Amino acid sequence: SIASANYEEELEFFSIKVPDGPLTSILQKVKVGDDILVSRKPTGTLVLDDLNPGKNLYLLSSGTGLAPFLSTIRDPETYERFEKVIVVHGTRFISELAYQDLILNELPNHEFFEELGIKDKLIYYPTVTREEFHTQGRVTTAIESGQLFEKIGLPRFNPETDRAMLCGSPAFLDDVVTLLDQHGLKESPKMGVLGDYVIERAFVEK
Ligand code: A2P
Repeated sequence: SIASANYEEELEFFSIKVPDGPLTSILQKVKVGDDILVSRKPTGTLVLDDLNPGKNLYLLSSGTGLAPFLSTIRDPETYERFEKVIVVHGTRFISELAYQDLILNELPNHEFFEELGIKDKLIYYPTVTREEFHTQGRVTTAIESGQLFEKIGLPRFNPETDRAMLCGSPAFLDDVVTLLDQHGLKESPKMGVLGDYVIERAFVEK
């Protein structure tokens, strides 16, 4: 996925490298000065415009599903629309918790985002499943047990106030959707129609 912001001069991609993959096997070998043709029309469902107005925006991801949210958290509009923006990222290993420096240091200390109150608004909840870390376990477990909400100091999902964007493996999406539905949040049924949450179904089963 494209990870750079909508206003940036450079396109940044965040992906795993699939050895024989039709895109990443080539993309990873691109060198400075190479020509690239990029289609004009971006594809994707994770757009703020498809969300009902709300207070808290949850960006829920597993693995490289974080990628589109790196654009979202670099978009000033995100902070104009929401009081809190919570990046929840679950990975197997600590080394896969990419972009921590951007989320924890770079953005909060960026003059422009500081003015938008990002230090108070942007909340980060990383969690790891297959090695020791200060937050351990699946994102879904943290939601079910309430550990996520305790840690970030917000109440459980509430359809009056909370909106979400989801990106990750199909199994992750299924399980998170079940939890959001149990809390009364409604999915945007299709692009252009408002909902409480939107899903990116870009991942292919391995
Ligand atoms: P786990 O290690 O318990 O499988 P992957 O690299 O397979 O996409 O996994 C990324 C992260 O998502 C891992 O921490 C993995 O946990 C977690 N995960 C996998 N399936 C689910 C699921 N159905 N619900 C929540 N988290 C999941």
